[in-house]
Amino acid sequence: MAALAVFLVLLLWLAVPPAAAQRTRGCRRQCGNVTVPYPFGIGARCHHGEDRGFRLECDDTRRPPRLTVAGYGHEVVSISLATAEATVLLNASRACYDRNSSSGSGRVLGRREEYPMALNGSAFLFSSIKSKFVAIGCPDLAYFVDDGGYYVTGCMSVCRPSARALPGSCRGDDGCCQSNIPLGLDSYRPYIRSFGRRQQQGTFMANSTGCAYAFMVDALWFWYAGSHFNRTGDFAVPVVLDWAIRAAGSSCATARGNATAYACRSKQSVCLDSSNGPGYICNCTSGYEGNPYILGGCKDVDECAHDDLYPCYGVCINTPGGYLCTCPEGSSGNATVLDGCHQKDKFTLALKAVTGVSIGVFLLILVCFSAHLSVQKRRTLRAKQRFFEQNGGLLLQQQLGSLASSGVAFKIFSDEEIRKATGNFDEARVLGRGGNGVVYRGVIADGSTVAIKKSRVVDEKQLKEFSREMLILSQINHRNVVKLLGCCLEVEVPMLVYEYVPNGSLHLYVHGDGKAMPPGERLRVAAESAHALAYMHSSASPPILHGDVKSANILLDGDLTAKVSDFGASRLAPADEAQVATLVQGTCGYLDPEYLLTCQLTCKSDVYSFAVVLLELLTGRKAFCPDGPEEDDTSLAFSFVTAVQRGRHREIMDGHVREELGVEVLDHAAELVIRCLSLTGEERPTMTEVADKIERLRSFHCTNV
Ligand SMILES: *[C@@H]1O[C@H](CO)[C@@H](O)[C@H](O)[C@H]1NC(C)=O
Ligand SMILES: *[C@@H]1O[C@H](CO)[C@@H](O)[C@H](O)[C@H]1NC(C)=O
Ligand SMILES: *[C@@H]1O[C@H](CO)[C@@H](O)[C@H](O)[C@H]1NC(C)=O
Ligand SMILES: *[C@@H]1O[C@H](CO)[C@@H](O)[C@H](O)[C@H]1NC(C)=O
Ligand SMILES: *[C@@H]1O[C@H](CO)[C@@H](O)[C@H](O)[C@H]1NC(C)=O
Ligand SMILES: *[C@@H]1O[C@H](CO)[C@@H](O)[C@H](O)[C@H]1NC(C)=O
Ligand SMILES: *[C@@H]1O[C@H](CO)[C@@H](O)[C@H](O)[C@H]1NC(C)=O
Ligand SMILES: *[C@@H]1O[C@H](CO)[C@@H](O)[C@H](O)[C@H]1NC(C)=O
Ligand SMILES: *[C@@H]1O[C@H](CO)[C@@H](O)[C@H](O)[C@H]1NC(C)=O
Repeated sequence: MAALAVFLVLLLWLAVPPAAAQRTRGCRRQCGNVTVPYPFGIGARCHHGEDRGFRLECDDTRRPPRLTVAGYGHEVVSISLATAEATVLLNASRACYDRNSSSGSGRVLGRREEYPMALNGSAFLFSSIKSKFVAIGCPDLAYFVDDGGYYVTGCMSVCRPSARALPGSCRGDDGCCQSNIPLGLDSYRPYIRSFGRRQQQGTFMANSTGCAYAFMVDALWFWYAGSHFNRTGDFAVPVVLDWAIRAAGSSCATARGNATAYACRSKQSVCLDSSNGPGYICNCTSGYEGNPYILGGCKDVDECAHDDLYPCYGVCINTPGGYLCTCPEGSSGNATVLDGCHQKDKFTLALKAVTGVSIGVFLLILVCFSAHLSVQKRRTLRAKQRFFEQNGGLLLQQQLGSLASSGVAFKIFSDEEIRKATGNFDEARVLGRGGNGVVYRGVIADGSTVAIKKSRVVDEKQLKEFSREMLILSQINHRNVVKLLGCCLEVEVPMLVYEYVPNGSLHLYVHGDGKAMPPGERLRVAAESAHALAYMHSSASPPILHGDVKSANILLDGDLTAKVSDFGASRLAPADEAQVATLVQGTCGYLDPEYLLTCQLTCKSDVYSFAVVLLELLTGRKAFCPDGPEEDDTSLAFSFVTAVQRGRHREIMDGHVREELGVEVLDHAAELVIRCLSLTGEERPTMTEVADKIERLRSFHCTNV
């Protein structure tokens, strides 16, 4: 039973021999100089499948023998398995002209031969990469159509005088033009159309043969042969064709399913989908060469026998599909490169030396780098310390102890804390800019919002005073003074941290659009501000001067309570003459005229400036308006004084204020302002008197309302 089974299997195996083997056996593989590999074959049953185009014919009667595609007649001159290409010959189409008949209409005269080429139904397609359509002659229009008669592509060639020639060849203006051909093209019928030949005397055609040519051609061959043809007769050019197993639109995926029809017979073969048209081709896997279309056709490449392609300077051992190249016994390295092998101990010695040196260098660099870093760090620290001392930090720190015990919360912030609070001085957090600094909104570690003032550069002399001033300011606790919460001394210019006042400045409120402030409120704000100033003038000795009283420095709290800000700012303001201009710029319209003469700030300077703020509240006008209607109108103080002298001061009061406060209050207020605006400080009342007077006006107003 078992013997019978074995016999049956053997019989079956013998009865179904591999088709390719059968077709290959006893077949002719040579025709003249052209080798014909399977799947191509000469004669019946020697080629692959039913595809037309694989069957070739060899005409031995010709010298040399002529190989043609059966049923198509194209002469084959080479076949490549590795690239799946074949080269066939094609006669160039031509149109020749009788130059003597140029008296005619310029139309084509003379002989015309147009050689088409049909590949439809075969394994071949024109190679769109390697073949080109070329036309020679000028002027000429050459094109070709497919088997349906539809235009495929073409080009026009003209002749430019050689003096105007552009570099390159076959560009279209040198009597030669070329055109790429599309993928999947299986037929070609050329046409040559000439025109305007009469006007072209003296150019390419006039000196040459009087024939125009058009043909499909191997682009590489044409490049070498040159584009200058001086022929008259027929000649053949090589055309590159792509071939593939194209049976019924097969692809690798479908073909693998049908073992009897699958063309890639060799075990060491791969299937590749055709890059031009349907179908697939086979190739040997890497490390193998030969014919993938026959069983056992792909043979291992003996790389060791080809040391030009596979260099090996050691011991070469061929393996199936590859090779091993090792260094001789006792040495190691890369044997595939010349002098790649080294004696083992020599190598390790060299390696040790190299490793030792590189580690040494690395350590040295590391040490240098860390030393550099620490020097840098120390330098930064020293700079911070220097600024701290320079800004009077030591004195301040000393006194902070006693302050803390007396319940005053004043903090010395570090540079990092300030940077963190302001988002590294983010532009988006700028609350305002003044003549002597920028104010940022910040959020400090405990989550509260603060205003951080970064002053402009100041000189050292003022810095000495700064910390003393700050110490005093930190102890001020008045509901109408913006509280100083802390400072930062680690930077070149000290920074001040203030309580944040949300509603902006009085200046914005009075002069901003549409925020009319009731006259009663105006009096209250004026009174509150006056109290704050009076308090500051009287609470310390020497008095704390503001030095820059203006509506922009009076801030408004959530419930519109006035809070005077920027006390002592003048201390930080530049005092030398060169920089006075910047100071004056910031406070134009408020500046005590006496100060300009004496350069000495006094309490009365603040009184003068405050009077201008009061005027602003009463008139609703800006203290300084550079584009006022008349020159007198630029300064509010000046125009008010003038108006009072002319008895017309009531007219410049704000309409609402005039109506609501009444003439009596207004007159008293005007009188107060005039006294405050006296040119000599002595004649001005003190801030306390001013505050009291405003309180009285307020209560008078209130009882009247
Ligand atoms: C063809 O072979 C002959 C000799 O067999 C040789 O002289 C000739 O150069 C070859 N031609 C080509 C194109 O290889
Ligand atoms: C076939 O394989 C050879 C060698 O691996 C390679 O040179 C060639 O380009 C391959 N052919 C195609 C069509 O991929
Ligand atoms: C053209 O005309 C010239 C003179 O008229 C003559 O010699 C020549 O043979 C003619 N050529 C042809 C091709 O008819
Ligand atoms: C190729 O096309 C021509 C013209 O359309 C046609 O006559 C011929 O039968 C076709 N050949 C094949 C094999 O399809
Ligand atoms: C044509 O021939 C004439 C003389 O035979 C020559 O001077 C002229 O340069 C030629 N023109 C071209 C385009 O070759
Ligand atoms: C033109 O053809 C003749 C003979 O075929 C040849 O001697 C001559 O060199 C060719 N001229 C050019 C420019 O190719
Ligand atoms: C190509 O031209 C030659 C020479 O004129 C001619 O013998 C041959 O028949 C032509 N080939 C074809 C396919 O027409
Ligand atoms: C396999 O291919 C052969 C030849 O083309 C065909 O006769 C047969 O029907 C195919 N078999 C299958 C299962 O498609
Ligand atoms: C040996 O050298 C060659 C050429 O430089 C390189 O391609 C190859 O990867 C090297 N082999 C090894 C094992 O380093």
